[in-house]
Amino acid sequence: MNNPIPTPRCGRLIGLSLGPGDPELITRRGWAALQSGARWTYPVKKAEERSYALEIVRRGGLDVPDDAVELVFPMTRDAAALAKAWARAAARTMQLLAEGRDVAFLVEGDASTYSTFRHLARAVRELAPEIEVETIPGVSSFAAAAASADVVLAEEDETVAVIPAAYGVAVIDHLLDEFDTLVLMKVKPLLDEVLDLLTARGLLATSCFVEKVGAPEERVVSDVASLRGEKVNYLSLLLVQNPKRARGELRRGCRKRAATAEEAAA
Ligand SMILES: C[S@@+](CC[C@H](N)C(=O)[O-])C[C@H]1O[C@@H](n2cnc3c(N)ncnc32)[C@H](O)[C@@H]1O
Repeated sequence: MNNPIPTPRCGRLIGLSLGPGDPELITRRGWAALQSGARWTYPVKKAEERSYALEIVRRGGLDVPDDAVELVFPMTRDAAALAKAWARAAARTMQLLAEGRDVAFLVEGDASTYSTFRHLARAVRELAPEIEVETIPGVSSFAAAAASADVVLAEEDETVAVIPAAYGVAVIDHLLDEFDTLVLMKVKPLLDEVLDLLTARGLLATSCFVEKVGAPEERVVSDVASLRGEKVNYLSLLLVQNPKRARGELRRGCRKRAATAEEAAA
C-alpha cells in the first residue's frame, strides 16, 4: 500500500492579549505564547508606525523577532478602504499560516474587547474555515484603569456598561439612569461634551479619567474638569459613577426571598 501524501498543515491563529501596557499584566499563557516560536504579527494604523503592542513586550524584556510582521488597519470610516485593508491583512495572515507555523496576533488589552483580532479571525475564517483560532484572554484597559484609579466597577447588585463615547451625550445621558457605572471608551474626540454633561448631572466628583494605564506615562485624573480643552491621548477612558441612580426591583431567587405573610405567621 502506498504511503498517503501528507497534506501541508496550516498553523493556528492566536489572538494574544497583552494587557493594557504593564508587561506584568501579560498572563502566563500569553507570555508562554510569545515565546512559543509562533510568528508574531501586530496591528498598526499606518505602515511603519510605532506599535503600542510591541512596546509592551519590549518593556517586558523580550526582543521583537526580525520576522515579526505588521498588519495595517487604517483608522478610517471609508468602507471601501477598510474592506481593502481587511482583505489584505487576512490574505497576508493566510500566507503566514500556510507556512505551518502558528501566527500570534499581538493585541493591546484584551483580544475580545474592541479589538481588531476578532475582525481578523472572521476574515481569515472566511478564506479558510478550517483554520484553528485560539483567543488568549487578557486584562482589559478598563479593569486596569479601575484598579489604578481605586474605583469599584460594580459590587453587589450594581450594573456596569462599557460603551464607546462616540454614541454621544444623549445616549450617555440616558445610560447614566440605567447603570451605576459607565466606562466610556475612546473618549478623546468627545471629552469636552462629556464633561459638560457630567457637570450638568453633578457627576464630576464621581468620575475619573485614565490615560495610558500601565504604560510609564500612565495618568489618573480625578479632577476631570481640569481636562477641559486638553488634547488627550487616544488610549484614554472615563469611569463615571452615578450614585444617585434609582434602582429597580431585583427578581426573587436572585436575592434571599423575603418571607410571605403566611410564612411569617407560621
Ligand atoms: C480599540 S479599543 C482597544 C480596547 C482594548 N482591547 C481593551 O481590552 O481595553 C481602544 C480604546 O481602549 C481604551 N484603552 C486601550 N488601552 C488603554 C490604556 N492603556 N489606557 C487607557 N485606555 C485604554 C481607550 O478608550 C481606547 O480609545
